[in-house]
Amino acid sequence: MSKNTIVLKPLSDEDINLFSNWLDKDYIYKWFCPDGDEQRADWLDEVRNVDSKHNHFNHFIVNHNDIKIGYCLYLDLHFEPEYSLENYGKTFDEGYAFEIGFLIGNEEYLNKGFGKMIVNKLEAKIIEIGGKEILADPDEENIASIKTLLSNGFIRIKDGDYRKSI
Ligand SMILES: CC(C)(COP(=O)(O)OP(=O)(O)OC[C@H]1O[C@@H](n2cnc3c(N)ncnc32)[C@H](O)[C@@H]1OP(=O)(O)O)[C@@H](O)C(=O)NCCC(=O)NCCS
Repeated sequence: MSKNTIVLKPLSDEDINLFSNWLDKDYIYKWFCPDGDEQRADWLDEVRNVDSKHNHFNHFIVNHNDIKIGYCLYLDLHFEPEYSLENYGKTFDEGYAFEIGFLIGNEEYLNKGFGKMIVNKLEAKIIEIGGKEILADPDEENIASIKTLLSNGFIRIKDGDYRKSI
């Protein structure tokens, strides 16, 4: 399928209920909220950007033929120094390294290549803004996510540390 069959549109307030419903699906909750409901609440705060703490997060709804099929984000790791040190062993200059996350919220669209397309589109956005490295921290048991990253050219550095230089 062509990579142009999906469009990433900035997430708006009207998408928040949909995103919240997607988070509740077992196959998503398991990987997005492994620490439980507090983490679920954190995700909602992040997409709502309640106190402007998450200005460096860029959230998107993935559209296919005008149907909302998923969600993704990228964020500048410069603004997450503690997390970067813990997870990636270093901090990053502003505009250099971006972490990504993604999900297919509509089960009918799973396993059809859309996950790969989303990562490809996120990469294009990060290239556009001059980023040099893309990072992801999938759980090692999240085979679908890891395969999605590897088939987009990411390299496993260690458990939960996958990177692609661009
Ligand atoms: C991860 C996710 C986005 C993948 O999306 P998808 O559209 O189903 O994936 P694709 O069809 O593009 O397939 C990508 C690769 O994963 C493999 N794959 C997909 N689903 C799989 C599954 N359930 N088990 C094993 N492999 C799977 C595909 O075979 C493909 O591998 P290949 O390139 O070696 O052929 C989707 O499973 C999802 O939304 N999961 C829940 C949320 C999540 O875990 N997000 C990632 C957090 S880091």
